[in-house]
Amino acid sequence: MTKSRIVYFSQGGATAQVAESIATGLRNFGRDVELYNLINHAPPDLAGSDLLGIGFPVYYFQPPFIIWDYLGGLPDLPGLPAFVFITYGTYPGNAGTSVRRVLMHKKMRELGYFRSRGADYFLGYLKKGYLFSPGHPVQADRTNSEVFGRQLAARLAGAEYVRPAEDKPPDFIYRLQRLTLNRWLVRHIFARFFAVKKTDCTGCGLCVEICPTGNIHAGSDGRPQWGRKCLLCLYCEMRCPAEAITSPMSWQSFSPFYDGNIARAASNPELDYVRVAHRRGRTERLNRSES
Ligand SMILES: Cc1cc2nc3c(=O)[nH]c(=O)nc-3n(C[C@H](O)[C@H](O)[C@H](O)COP(=O)(O)O)c2cc1C
Repeated sequence: MTKSRIVYFSQGGATAQVAESIATGLRNFGRDVELYNLINHAPPDLAGSDLLGIGFPVYYFQPPFIIWDYLGGLPDLPGLPAFVFITYGTYPGNAGTSVRRVLMHKKMRELGYFRSRGADYFLGYLKKGYLFSPGHPVQADRTNSEVFGRQLAARLAGAEYVRPAEDKPPDFIYRLQRLTLNRWLVRHIFARFFAVKKTDCTGCGLCVEICPTGNIHAGSDGRPQWGRKCLLCLYCEMRCPAEAITSPMSWQSFSPFYDGNIARAASNPELDYVRVAHRRGRTERLNRSES
């Protein structure tokens, strides 16, 4: 029997929830669905697949590098029905479009494109006191994801699919940020500047455990050491209970970008946010008197 396969990356859980809801929609129509989070699953063999879904959170207005790696390893799959879904906190740019194009180049047949919001645990914004899209995907997002899954099933069964328009390319300021955080710079420059304050680090190993690419190893003193497979997700720094980790994303030079992005997002009536304090690896909502 054929299987529908959904391959995704999710570090914070939002994309995973959307993937699960899409799978529920497909299963309700009798489809056999398997899900693979690239953090803890090897990419599946696609033999016998009747559908391939690819999902990811937008990182820096582009797909995370782990998704590019996965796509790079895919052969041409002529005629395989495929769909793309993304989650984002404030502004996704055209990250979804870039992956839709790759699938087209690999000769797949697009059957859907879906976007959902997901709680935005980007450390640059948290440190400035903003959590955008808190709680997303909320129930309505999950319902929409499930409906999308049902639509996919109907299209597999022959219902018409009208390909949605491509996302508009982002404005200059977002393209500049994307360029600043391109893969070469991350691998050769930024990845070198992750550091641990040895006096503060307790050697708890949390950073090693949560790194999505296994890029962090404990040295002989039990303290973290970083390799070059960094996605710049910043979860190591964000979750460190001792605040012992620093990364290039704390450099003052990035601050104007964060301020500009926050100002644009906070004034967008379609987005919600809460004020937060990020301390010792935890994000706490501020109550009214503090905000
Ligand atoms: C390192 C990092 C970069 C991000 N960059 C963007 C971005 O450029 N645009 C956006 O709208 N959201 C951005 N986000 C928010 C995530 O795309 C969003 O919260 C997503 O739902 C997280 O998915 P996950 O919980 O499955 O990991 C970023 C989050 C992180 C951690």
